[in-house]
Amino acid sequence: MNPASDPQEEALKPHVYDGIREYDKRLPNWWLWTFYGAMIFSFGYWLHYHRSIPLPSDEERLQSQLNQLAIKAGAEGRAALTDAQLWEMSRDPAIVAAGRETFTTTCVSCHGAKLEGGIGAKLSDTEWVHGGLPTQVAGTVSKGVLAKGMPGWGPVLGARKVGEVVAYVMSHHNEGEPVTLVPSAQPMPPGAAAPAVVAEPAAPAAPAAPPSP
Ligand code: HEC
Repeated sequence: MNPASDPQEEALKPHVYDGIREYDKRLPNWWLWTFYGAMIFSFGYWLHYHRSIPLPSDEERLQSQLNQLAIKAGAEGRAALTDAQLWEMSRDPAIVAAGRETFTTTCVSCHGAKLEGGIGAKLSDTEWVHGGLPTQVAGTVSKGVLAKGMPGWGPVLGARKVGEVVAYVMSHHNEGEPVTLVPSAQPMPPGAAAPAVVAEPAAPAAPAAPPSP
């Protein structure tokens, strides 16, 4: 009855359950490798997702891809991003969040936290002075409107942040919405100011800014 006594049964484990014996065999290599592989993978997974070890996140990878795009576009000498790309970016929560951050630090003082305007133009309505296509907005943001007190942000923020902040502004708009071009509501020589064309009666024209100092 002792299994060790029979050389043929040496590879059997000593226990018996309901008459069933178990061979003492090595697990197959393919099984062991998937097992060890899973252990190694789970360690990395745990580090990345549960210990917040700073491996590049999806967002960071996206950002660096956008940087690459902008650099490439710059090198090719064309406008950094197309309307379609900017609309797409305006629907991307990560990019819009980054743009909101830039807007809060850089633009809110003149355009308001809800884009309602103030010193600067209202950016949440469909009336635009300098064009409402994303590329036109990007152009205005990059170059500014120096005569009216809007600084040019391109050199300050760089192409990536301008793209993000434009995406944030455009996240308050919809592709294909009507765009009404209105004259600037900013201070002009007295008598020269043309009345703003108001498309919807409910939406007042961009609030008049205080006279420039
Ligand atoms: C110092 C105040 C000031 C700051 C800061 C400022 N703007 Fe402006 N912005 C203005 C003024 C003034 C105008 C109106 C220009 C005009 O009437 O021609 C304007 C106009 C604009 C327009 C054009 C609106 C239209 O109707 O065509 C856009 C877009 C815009 N700003 C975006 C931004 C963004 C984005 C930022 C932050 C990166 C920013 N601005 C920061 C003052 C500012």
